[in-house]
Amino acid sequence: MSASPRAGQSRPVTTSTFRANKAAGRRIAMVTAYDVSGARLADAAGVDAILVGDSLGMVVLGYGSTLPVTMADMLHHTAAVVRGTTRALVVADMPFLSFQVSPEEALRNAGRLMAEAGAGAVKLEGGTSVAPTVKRLTDAGIPVMGHLGLTPQSVNQLGGYKVQAKESAPAIALLDDCLTLQAAGAFAIVFECIPAELAAIATAELDIPTIGIGAGAGCDGEVQVFHDLLGLGGDFTPRHARRFAEVGALITSALAEYVDEVREGAFPGDEQCTHMDPRALDEVRAARQGRRRAGEEE
Ligand code: KIV
Repeated sequence: MSASPRAGQSRPVTTSTFRANKAAGRRIAMVTAYDVSGARLADAAGVDAILVGDSLGMVVLGYGSTLPVTMADMLHHTAAVVRGTTRALVVADMPFLSFQVSPEEALRNAGRLMAEAGAGAVKLEGGTSVAPTVKRLTDAGIPVMGHLGLTPQSVNQLGGYKVQAKESAPAIALLDDCLTLQAAGAFAIVFECIPAELAAIATAELDIPTIGIGAGAGCDGEVQVFHDLLGLGGDFTPRHARRFAEVGALITSALAEYVDEVREGAFPGDEQCTHMDPRALDEVRAARQGRRRAGEEE
């Protein structure tokens, strides 16, 4: 894969902006996007960061989990998002098995997301066990966002998409994970589906920003899946999301109108047509007539 045309281009929002926002008490707004049009819309709306999440597998590619998402998928979609973004920081998710095997393999894969696709940072799931990998990446100059709580790549171990760390022991373990990730160099941590009180305690203890999804309002920022916010995911809306618009219903009704108009012959109309220069048209007609006559004489 050759480098995305915008790879390496700096953007107004960087990982330093994240830290400055936390210090100033400015909340961080983040949303997922997976292609150039989604990225343009999110960037124009003024989000601070766009996450090319491996939720791609479920909301765009139709898989039942994020596990089948590959490095090739992430490179392809991250590059498209980077091409559609001029302001926001683009964070690329590291897919299943791209970082778990060894810190060296993680470095190679994270490096590809940065150098080839143009991401400004990567995100990876896990706590203390991935800290050596976070350190390896950050030592190499790659900003890393952590991800704790409900980590969808471990759905089979977690026994489903459930709220995590509701009891004291896992809650204390999560707080330890936070401090370990921060010490390893993570610039921010996503908390997915954990109790609001726990997210607020962690947010107060950490110097780096926390970004919640199903983690209450006490985080330093929020991330949500594009399709969940816009009603593009069918009837289901996760409890932690709200539909800010019914874009899916709007698209279906617009396409149904298109189907009707094509069938009725109302579309395309004259405004959508290009007409030939009358002289050229006369010449075409004369040429066709000449050919027909020649055929009749044979
Ligand atoms: O893949 C994703 O979209 C995510 C968010 C849910 C945080 O990891």
